[in-house]
Amino acid sequence: MSTLSEVDLDAQTVTKAYARWAPVYDLVFGAVFERGRQVAIAAAERIGGRVLEVGVGTGISLPQYSKECQLSGVDISEPMLRKAQERVTELGLTNVEGLWVMDAERLSFPDNSFDVVVAQHVITTVPNPEAALDELARVLKPGGEIVLVSRIGAEAGLRRSLEHWFQPAARKLGWRSEFSFERYARWAAKTSGMHLIERRAVPPLGHFNLIRFGKDGGSNSAYDSEPVRAAG
Ligand SMILES: C[S@@+](CC[C@H](N)C(=O)[O-])C[C@H]1O[C@@H](n2cnc3c(N)ncnc32)[C@H](O)[C@@H]1O
Repeated sequence: MSTLSEVDLDAQTVTKAYARWAPVYDLVFGAVFERGRQVAIAAAERIGGRVLEVGVGTGISLPQYSKECQLSGVDISEPMLRKAQERVTELGLTNVEGLWVMDAERLSFPDNSFDVVVAQHVITTVPNPEAALDELARVLKPGGEIVLVSRIGAEAGLRRSLEHWFQPAARKLGWRSEFSFERYARWAAKTSGMHLIERRAVPPLGHFNLIRFGKDGGSNSAYDSEPVRAAG
């Protein structure tokens, strides 16, 4: 069972926050998260096929995927998703199969639907991250990968104190400033059929990680231990 401090965001706070972010999100976060985005997409493309972006936001990643990938996107925020839909229409992204308002904790896709499930800067923003990870794993095909880009809180020192101090403000902005890697590790350890493939720092500031989980079975296991290199 989760403790109170682990369920410190609620869906209403998050949807309110991202309704405010929607008009300016690309301007504020577009360039800052670019490198992590490239690495996550490179990881997803190595598997290819049907790719689900959970918390797709304004759809900033969508044009960067190879046209060979069939993309689906979900987000809890309608204003963010509207931006994504405009982008898909303006750029004629015919490889986007659909965009849906959906909660990461309750995906309405059948089990084993996608070759890759990507969630960039999302898991730290959902009220119950472990429930969302369970859902990502459920809709993933055997042999597929969950590809995350996630902020990882410091474990000690000044940054840890600052993150603790900033947490109430971060909550209003729609995310957690405190989030240890241990939480991901614990989830993987208790989730049968899932294993950690890779964890490494991505820019900016070394506060973010690319994290890849594999689902046992299927035929992609030969790739498991290789780190991903983004082009550029
Ligand atoms: C920081 S933004 C990241 C957007 C995009 N992935 C990117 O990298 O630019 C977090 C996104 O997650 C979405 N989100 C938060 N909680 C969610 C949930 N429970 N289910 C689905 N989406 C959620 C927010 O609405 C927002 O669009």
